[in-house]
Amino acid sequence: MDLSAADMLRGLAEATTTVTAEFTNAPLTVAGELPAAIDGFYFRNGPGRFERGGRRYLHPFDGDGHVTRLDISSGAVCYTNRFVRTEEYLAEERAGRMLYRSFGTNLPGGLLGNLFRLNFKNAANTSVRWHAGRLLALWEGGAPYRLDPTTLATLGREDFDRGLASPFSGMSRRLAPLLPFSAHPHIAGGTGDLYNFGLVSGRPNRLMLYRVGADGVMEAPRQHPLSRFSFVHDLGVTRRWLCFLLPQADFDIGRALLGLTTAVGSLHIATERPMQVLLLPREPGAIEPRIISGPPGFVFHIAQAFDDSNGRVVLDVIRYGCYPEFDAIEELFRDPPEGAAPRLERLILDPAREYCERIGFGDDLARHAFELPVSAPAALGEPQRILYGVGAPPERRTPYLTSIMRLDTATGALTTRDFGLDLVGEPMLVPGAIGDEGWLLSLVFRVGQSRTDLVVLRAADLAIQATTALPHALPVGFHGCWVPRAELATASR
Ligand SMILES: [Fe+2]
Repeated sequence: MDLSAADMLRGLAEATTTVTAEFTNAPLTVAGELPAAIDGFYFRNGPGRFERGGRRYLHPFDGDGHVTRLDISSGAVCYTNRFVRTEEYLAEERAGRMLYRSFGTNLPGGLLGNLFRLNFKNAANTSVRWHAGRLLALWEGGAPYRLDPTTLATLGREDFDRGLASPFSGMSRRLAPLLPFSAHPHIAGGTGDLYNFGLVSGRPNRLMLYRVGADGVMEAPRQHPLSRFSFVHDLGVTRRWLCFLLPQADFDIGRALLGLTTAVGSLHIATERPMQVLLLPREPGAIEPRIISGPPGFVFHIAQAFDDSNGRVVLDVIRYGCYPEFDAIEELFRDPPEGAAPRLERLILDPAREYCERIGFGDDLARHAFELPVSAPAALGEPQRILYGVGAPPERRTPYLTSIMRLDTATGALTTRDFGLDLVGEPMLVPGAIGDEGWLLSLVFRVGQSRTDLVVLRAADLAIQATTALPHALPVGFHGCWVPRAELATASR
C-alpha cells in the first residue's frame, strides 16, 4: 500500500524546516565504504529559510537560497553550509521582517502592502553551478550570485562584465537593471561553452539567449521575441538547436501589479493546450527558427537533447499533465488531479515537417514518477543512454519523491531504490573510470528523525555504498553540481 496523504504532508512539513546553523568544514562520520575514487566537491542549493519575522512563506519555492558543500576525499567527508547573502536577504536580516514579495508570497497588508511593489526577492535558491572558475548560485528570475567555492561566502552579483546589463529602457530597466539568468544553464562537454536563457516580460515578451565561453567571457546576449507570455524553466542544447518547451501561460499582470494576488496566483498555465516546441539555431542565423506543436501539459526539466542521424531533434522531457499547485499543497496531496505526477517521455521532432512524435520508454517506466533528471557529462549534442533521477513507487499520483531511479533508454530497463517515507534529493553523478558508471550522491531527508544523510549509491545497480549523517536536518533542495578536486584546484591557482 502506498503512503497516506497525511504521511506525505507530514513529511513535507518536516522537510521544509528552516536551517538555523552554519558549519565550516565539519568532519562527518561515514558508515560503509566510501570509494576513494570519489575525490571532489558536491555543491547543492535549495530553500533553507521558510519564514521571516514570524510569517511563513506560502510557497516552497520562496525559501532563501542555502548552499551546501560536501568535500569528499580519501573516504572522508567534511561539511560546509551558508545562506546566499543576496542584497534582499541582508536587508531582511537587518529589518527582521519581510521587505520583498516572492514568487508565491505577498507582503503583509493586502492591497496597500503590495500595490505596485514589483521588486521581488532574488531567492538565489534553485541551483549552484561551476563554470570557468566561478561558482554561481542561480534563480531564474534574476542575476546569479557568485560564491567563494572554499568558504561559500557570497561575493556579490555576477553580471559577466556587464553582459547582463539590461539593454531595455524605462520601467523594465528600473525594476531590473540586470537581465535574468535562468537556473538551468547547459554546459556543453568538449567545448565547455555554457548556454543559458532568461525570460523578460514586456511588449514583446523576450527570450534572452546567453553563451559564456570556457574562458568565462559572455557574448552579447541574443534576443528572440515571443508572441505570448510563457513560463520556461530549462533548455535543451543540440549541435544545431537551442530547444524550449513553451506552455500556453497567461499572466494577469494587472492583478499582480495591484497586489491582489501573488505572482504564482496570477499565472495560469493552460495544460490542456499543446505546448509549443521552439527550436532556435544554436549558431545565430545558421538556420531558420521553428515552432512545432507539442503535447499538452507542462515541463520543468529536459533530461537530454540531441540531433538524430535523420536531422530530427530528440528531447527527453519530464512532463506533467497538469501544473503542480505547490501553493495549494493540501489539495495536491489529498486529492491529486490526474497528471499531477511527473513522467519521463521522449519527443521526436522533425524540423522539416514541423511534426512532433511522443513515445514512452516502456510499461515499467510509464507507471513511475520521474523527476530531477541527470546523466553523465556528454560532448555537445551527444546522446546518453542512461538517465538517473528521483521518482516514486508505481502508481503514486503525487510528486512525493522517495526513490532513486536509473533508466536504460535503449531497453526501457528501470532500476529503482525506494526509501519509504524519506524524501530523496537530486542524484548527482560522480563519473567513474572508463567502463565504470560511477556513483550517485543524494541528500536524503529522514522523515520522523529530522535528519539528513548523504547517501552514496553505485550508479550501475543503485546499491548503497556509504551513508553519512549531516550535523543537522537539511530541507529538501533542488539542484547542484559535482566538481572534481583537480578542477577546483586549477581554478584557484
Ligand atoms: Fe529545475
